[in-house]
Amino acid sequence: MSQPLLDLQDVVFRWPGQAAACLDIANFQVAADEHVFIHGESGSGKSTLLNLIAGVLLPQQGRLTALGQPLPALSAAARDRFRVDHVGLIFQQFNLIPYLSVLDNVLLPCRFSRRRRERAGDMKQAAATLLNHLGLGEDLWQRPATQLSVGQQQRVAAARALIGQPEIVIADEPTSALDAARQEAFLGLLRQECAAARAALLFVSHDQRLAEGFGRRVDMAELNRAAGRGGDEGTAGEAAGAAVPASLPHPRPLSRGERGDQA
Ligand SMILES: Nc1ncnc2c1ncn2[C@@H]1O[C@H](COP(=O)(O)OP(=O)(O)O)[C@@H](O)[C@H]1O
Ligand SMILES: [Mg+2]
Repeated sequence: MSQPLLDLQDVVFRWPGQAAACLDIANFQVAADEHVFIHGESGSGKSTLLNLIAGVLLPQQGRLTALGQPLPALSAAARDRFRVDHVGLIFQQFNLIPYLSVLDNVLLPCRFSRRRRERAGDMKQAAATLLNHLGLGEDLWQRPATQLSVGQQQRVAAARALIGQPEIVIADEPTSALDAARQEAFLGLLRQECAAARAALLFVSHDQRLAEGFGRRVDMAELNRAAGRGGDEGTAGEAAGAAVPASLPHPRPLSRGERGDQA
């Protein structure tokens, strides 16, 4: 690949207070508009890797560039700006803002990022198009986002990640609350929308059955030389929670179960 969208070389990351490295990655490149399925056991460093790519965490060693920018060389404020301008994030718990409507949740990145706003054009129209593509009808748009079913909330989170065409879309095990058929339907829609926007998609899951349809699969056990040695295997501290921009309220657990969803 000529100029990769993401370029990691000899990246080492160690959590504070831990003796062993959590991540040790010799080489990892992702091209623009590539769809990568990253799998690995709980505790293998998947969320930590995503947080490095999103500029939330910084490696102690190595080279990490995203869109040609060396993230470790940027200030914290510049990394926040990079993230809101160029990265769409879908978290396991979706992190929708409970007191905002579906539509306002989707529009949120455009409020934080002028670049996303400009790329969206008419941002309400852009939100409407995404919501329609993801199968969320207009009758839902003014509802508080967290009153929707889990499957619907997941699609709201996807629309929010996609609005304003960020170059990188990151999804951290966002489907685990859904059954297999719904997971696959959601993934199909997500891949389709990323392809339409020419965004790279990094989709993380411990469930390899979801890998079908991805152009590329990456196994953390192979990518991460530190996987399986050291760290607190199995505790899986949900590092992605830290990826919420400081200006957004902290994530809260889902309050409702799956009900009547048409994924
Ligand atoms: N905030 C944290 N502080 C210290 N250690 C952490 C933190 N988050 C994760 N870890 C550790 O890093 C390792 C990888 O975690 P994580 O990236 O969440 O794995 P995965 O997403 O693959 O389940 C685990 O050993 C975990 O305990
Ligand atoms: Mg994780």
